Amino acid sequence: MRGVTILDRLSLTVGAGAPTVLIGPNGAGKTTALRLMAGLMAPTSGRITWGGRPDVPARRAIMFQKPAMLRRSAGGNLRYALNAAGIPRRDYAGRIHELLALVGLDGLERRPARRLSGGEQQRLALARALAGDPAVLLLDEPTASLDPAATKTIEDVIRAVAAKGAKVVMSTHDLGQARRLGGDIVLLHRGRLLETGPAATFFTSPQTEAARIFLAGDLLV
Ligand SMILES: Nc1ncnc2c1ncn2[C@@H]1O[C@H](COP(=O)(O)OP(=O)(O)OP(=O)(O)O)[C@@H](O)[C@H]1O
Ligand SMILES: [Mg+2]
Repeated sequence: MRGVTILDRLSLTVGAGAPTVLIGPNGAGKTTALRLMAGLMAPTSGRITWGGRPDVPARRAIMFQKPAMLRRSAGGNLRYALNAAGIPRRDYAGRIHELLALVGLDGLERRPARRLSGGEQQRLALARALAGDPAVLLLDEPTASLDPAATKTIEDVIRAVAAKGAKVVMSTHDLGQARRLGGDIVLLHRGRLLETGPAATFFTSPQTEAARIFLAGDLLV
């Protein structure tokens, strides 16, 4: 939107390895940063490169903060994603079974996706994002409305995906999750990068006052 600066002077290098986790208050710019990385929008100034090149990797997937399901069954939603990813039709049945099991939705293949509970839809959205075996997986608050068991399922999936060599960049409001999953932490506030660093040191010895305030659970205003 004209005149509104959403991300300002954000300079960030995301390396291979364990997930990069974006944290920060509402409106910090996490979703916008993920949408830019996904190639869904272009920066008004500045540039985004992948391994030094401008092309967004083909094998990338994004899971949105508010996933929208097609008016089809859970399996139908996955079929759509498998087709889009160019997976051979003969492999669909096996992959659907595998993907549903992975996110803890076994047996729900025929259920209309929009009748699934919010948390189930969120897990189906993750399965859908995984359909094409992405090399880059962008996840916007993947466990925002999930209970602890479902959250653990998703965190295990994220770890497994990262262990296979895919790069995960995700956002979360759950600092425990950022600590559990994060290789690198990126703290955003009002479109600015406040602090970034390896999770191991970010949480124990934040370098900025703002990060200390945020990690202490105080309000960053
Ligand atoms: N297309 C747009 N036009 C105008 N403002 C926008 C647009 N998209 C995002 N914004 C604004 O940019 C800011 C950053 O939004 P963004 O969705 O990236 O934040 P976020 O960190 O994901 O927040 P949350 O934790 O609430 O999901 C917000 O103030 C939002 O209102
Ligand atoms: Mg957001």
